[in-house]
Amino acid sequence: MNPLSVTCLLHLLLLLVVADAFSLFPKKTHVQINNDLGSGIDLTVHCKSKDDDLGERHLGYHNNFDFGFRPSIFQNTLFFCSFQWNGLFHRFDIYVQIRDSLLCPVIKETLRLYPPAPLVPRETIEDCTVAGFHVPSGTRLLVNLRKLQRDPNVWDKLPDFMPERFLSDRANIDMRGQDFELIPFGSGRRICPGITFSLRVLPLVLARLLHGFEWGTVGDKAIDMSESPGLTNHKATPLEVTLSPKLPSMISASIKMHTTYNQ
Ligand code: HEM
Repeated sequence: MNPLSVTCLLHLLLLLVVADAFSLFPKKTHVQINNDLGSGIDLTVHCKSKDDDLGERHLGYHNNFDFGFRPSIFQNTLFFCSFQWNGLFHRFDIYVQIRDSLLCPVIKETLRLYPPAPLVPRETIEDCTVAGFHVPSGTRLLVNLRKLQRDPNVWDKLPDFMPERFLSDRANIDMRGQDFELIPFGSGRRICPGITFSLRVLPLVLARLLHGFEWGTVGDKAIDMSESPGLTNHKATPLEVTLSPKLPSMISASIKMHTTYNQ
């Protein structure tokens, strides 16, 4: 190999290491499939991606099968698995990158457009001037989070539900009260103490529900997203959905994904 090729190769390697160190590549994703079908019932699992065949696995009761992969930077990774036991057969897409990597952005976009507590009360403890307005001590005010989070000077394509915005220009925005354009948990010394719990539990619950069920609406009607006025945000029309399990509850598949939230 001539010196020029060696230099190019070294540069390429350096670029790959730097890209990895600065998280330019998606983080590794792990899938775990557990057999909880019941004592004596074996499960045959066969998972494939568009390029890889992970082979057939036979899982005894309480055994599991794990695999990991790095999703594509082109957002087109797909893994699908078939499950067979006692003469039954099920197949489903276990990881669809464009669907699954959007989970946390979907939560951010939902909390942006529909903050559960849209008005945060405050009372000033001393005289102050804000944007030229004199605010005397003891003034009660309601900070309108909903309005801040839909401000057309800050957010484009209003009022579209667009989780993709958190994958590109606003990828680093966080909801812990420091980026004032998105503060669904409030900010300052009275910020919501349930924030860490919520940011852990919301993606888990949502992932579990999406992976476990096919979702639909009664008569395929569009969901009415209008809200009713109040200190907490309620839907004007109650949500009615149909759920059909993708798999019997005894087989569970869990996916650990890198979330965009800070610890
Ligand atoms: C998506 C979930 C949640 C959202 C969007 C949310 C939002 C908020 C907001 C906007 C406030 C007012 C913050 C401020 O005044 O700056 C608040 C306060 C509070 N939240 Fe949450 N919350 C959530 C979940 C929880 C959970 C799970 C808990 C308890 C386990 C919790 C407990 C509290 C408490 C105790 C306060 C009052 C804090 C204080 O006044 O010092 N919240 N929350």
